[in-house]
Amino acid sequence: MRRYLQVLAAMALFVCSAAVSAAQHSPPPKDELVVAKQAAPASSTNGFAGAETCALCHTAESNKFSSNPHAKLALMHGGKGVTCEGCHGPGQAHVEAGGDKAKIFSFLTATPRQVDARCLSCHLGTHANFDRSAHALAGVSCAVCHSSHNPQTELHLLKVEEPKLCYTCHTDVKASFSQPFHHKVNEGVMACSDCHNPHGTLQDKLLNTAADQTAICTKCHADTLGPFVYEHPPVKVEGCTSCHFPHGSQNPRLLTRNNVNSLCLQCHTASMNFTTPGTPSFHNQANQYQACTTCHTQIHGSNANSYYFK
Ligand code: HEC
Ligand code: HEC
Ligand code: HEC
Ligand code: HEC
Ligand code: HEC
Ligand code: HEC
Ligand code: HEC
Ligand code: HEC
Ligand code: HEC
Ligand code: HEC
Repeated sequence: MRRYLQVLAAMALFVCSAAVSAAQHSPPPKDELVVAKQAAPASSTNGFAGAETCALCHTAESNKFSSNPHAKLALMHGGKGVTCEGCHGPGQAHVEAGGDKAKIFSFLTATPRQVDARCLSCHLGTHANFDRSAHALAGVSCAVCHSSHNPQTELHLLKVEEPKLCYTCHTDVKASFSQPFHHKVNEGVMACSDCHNPHGTLQDKLLNTAADQTAICTKCHADTLGPFVYEHPPVKVEGCTSCHFPHGSQNPRLLTRNNVNSLCLQCHTASMNFTTPGTPSFHNQANQYQACTTCHTQIHGSNANSYYFK
């Protein structure tokens, strides 16, 4: 209703008449619409009315738009960039009908698929994986995360800033980042989008990859990347998440087990003899009270020792 009043007020101003009709909560009187229609620039072509015409009635959207990245681009290229009709489609018929909602593309009433197709008509190049992403498939459209007219963040036009935006839906993930040990996303040191691309990737779980196509983790933790002369197979085969939780954990180092030894023994049970002190072995009974990584320190791989001692 407020928006409707703004439109009415704008129209009333435009025809230089007292804004009598704006006080009434009813459609604009016919004569005002006729004036508005006549005022449309004569240069209109191909069903396009031009942004100046839209501004006559939609002052709120138009005034703010000059600071929008879409508008900045519009100012380049001889003013032929993205203007109102680049997104809402040709608006001449809408103008001639005095603002008939049915004669203009509205992102508020379009289906998610229609919204995505509109935005992707220009952004397909950088977001080619969106259509088959978990978000697109679940009907989470561009306009759910982005606001073209009332963004909370100037950069990227987000409706709500990260990570709050993501937490509105992923409440279980919020819980993981509240664990005692966690990547500092809530503290603003990094963002969900450092590891995920909400627009889809070629990986599972919308995961980004490092520049060399390995797991995203090695982009920041380069020392775990290798290649090592003596690789610890699970690091490359099962991946980092076979031993670490990516978001947060009750355990130091984001480990999936509360005790390093029980983590190792998930895979190494057969070769360990901690419980049979009589058996000749480099691992004796006493060892079980030490963390395996006290000796096997280079757990992600080593260039010096096949047992990852150094
Ligand atoms: C003559 C005044 C007028 C002009 C000029 C005009 N509109 Fe509108 N527009 C309206 C009115 C009135 C509505 C209906 C508002 C309502 O019912 O909430 C409307 C609705 C819309 C909507 C739909 C909003 C919704 O709630 O779904 C969009 C989008 C829109 N206009 C875009 C444009 C664009 C783009 C232009 C320029 C090409 C334009 N309008 C020019 C008067 C105008
Ligand atoms: C980048 C694409 C894009 C451009 C360019 C654009 N719009 Fe919109 N418009 C949208 C989207 C998306 C929405 C839905 C609300 C939102 O995301 O802010 C919308 C909503 C609207 C509405 C409905 C208002 C509401 O929120 O109820 C009007 C009216 C409108 N736009 C007019 C305009 C006018 C006038 C211009 C030019 C100054 C313009 N738009 C430029 C994408 C665009
Ligand atoms: C689930 C939320 C979400 C959805 C859905 C979404 N985005 Fe984004 N978008 C973001 C976030 C968060 C950023 C900033 C971080 C980044 O770049 O990934 C962003 C950044 C962008 C950027 C600027 C940076 C870049 O990568 O080019 C563009 C352009 C963009 N989105 C367009 C789109 C389009 C077009 C769609 C629909 C096809 C869309 N977005 C759907 C959340 C979303
Ligand atoms: C007519 C082409 C066109 C359409 C349609 C379009 N965009 Fe854009 N968009 C651009 C251009 C060009 C830029 C500015 C250059 C850039 O940053 O890539 C831009 C910039 C953006 C940015 C800001 C990028 C940044 O880094 O801050 C976002 C976010 C974005 N668009 C999202 C959308 C969404 C969401 C839609 C659909 C509602 C949409 N765009 C529709 C062409 C378009
Ligand atoms: C409007 C709700 C909504 C918002 C906002 C949202 N998501 Fe989603 N997200 C979903 C839905 C629905 C799915 C698909 C169903 C599912 O797997 O939970 C999904 C799927 C995902 C997946 C893939 C899960 C899988 O199992 O494959 C990831 C990762 C993800 N979202 C991350 C993000 C990030 C990061 C953000 C913020 C930039 C975000 N989401 C914002 C609703 C949302
Ligand atoms: C340090 C990198 C990293 C960050 C930061 C990160 N994620 Fe993830 N996320 C992952 C990895 C890796 C997986 C896959 C886990 C797996 O396959 O077991 C994942 C899985 C997910 C899933 C799938 C369901 C699940 O829990 O396994 C969702 C949804 C998700 N992340 C959302 C988010 C959101 C929302 C944020 C920000 C609040 C975020 N992620 C931040 C790395 C990250
Ligand atoms: C964008 C950079 C970035 C990415 C990507 C990233 N991390 Fe981290 N990680 C950090 C930073 C910074 C810290 C230490 C700061 C903090 O959170 O206290 C950290 C801390 C850790 C720690 C705890 C170290 C300690 O001393 O307690 C582990 C384990 C870890 N990350 C594993 C991973 C895994 C596994 C992945 C991939 C799922 C990953 N990281 C992706 C930046 C990153
Ligand atoms: C076989 C299990 C395992 C795998 C797989 C694994 N880690 Fe670790 N990681 C550990 C253990 C155990 C520690 C703790 C070492 C300690 O306490 O001294 C650790 C420690 C870390 C630390 C803390 C700093 C350090 O180097 O001690 C980071 C960061 C880390 N891992 C990142 C990664 C990344 C990134 C990957 C994937 C490339 C990965 N880890 C794969 C077991 C593993
Ligand atoms: C996900 C399974 C898995 C986990 C968890 C795991 N490892 Fe391994 N580890 C392997 C595999 C597979 C090999 C290669 C075995 C082989 O070559 O015979 C290996 C090799 C080793 C070797 C070298 C063996 C040799 O003969 O060269 C050592 C030492 C080792 N791991 C220590 C550890 C320690 C300490 C931990 C706990 C921090 C651990 N591993 C956790 C799977 C795992
Ligand atoms: C006190 C130091 C120490 C501790 C603690 C320790 N190890 Fe070892 N580990 C060794 C030595 C020494 C070797 C043999 C190296 C050799 O043969 O030259 C070895 C060898 C291994 C091997 C290779 C066995 C084989 O058959 O090739 C594995 C696997 C292994 N350790 C896993 C573990 C695990 C898992 C833990 C924790 C439960 C652990 N170690 C704790 C010192 C230690």
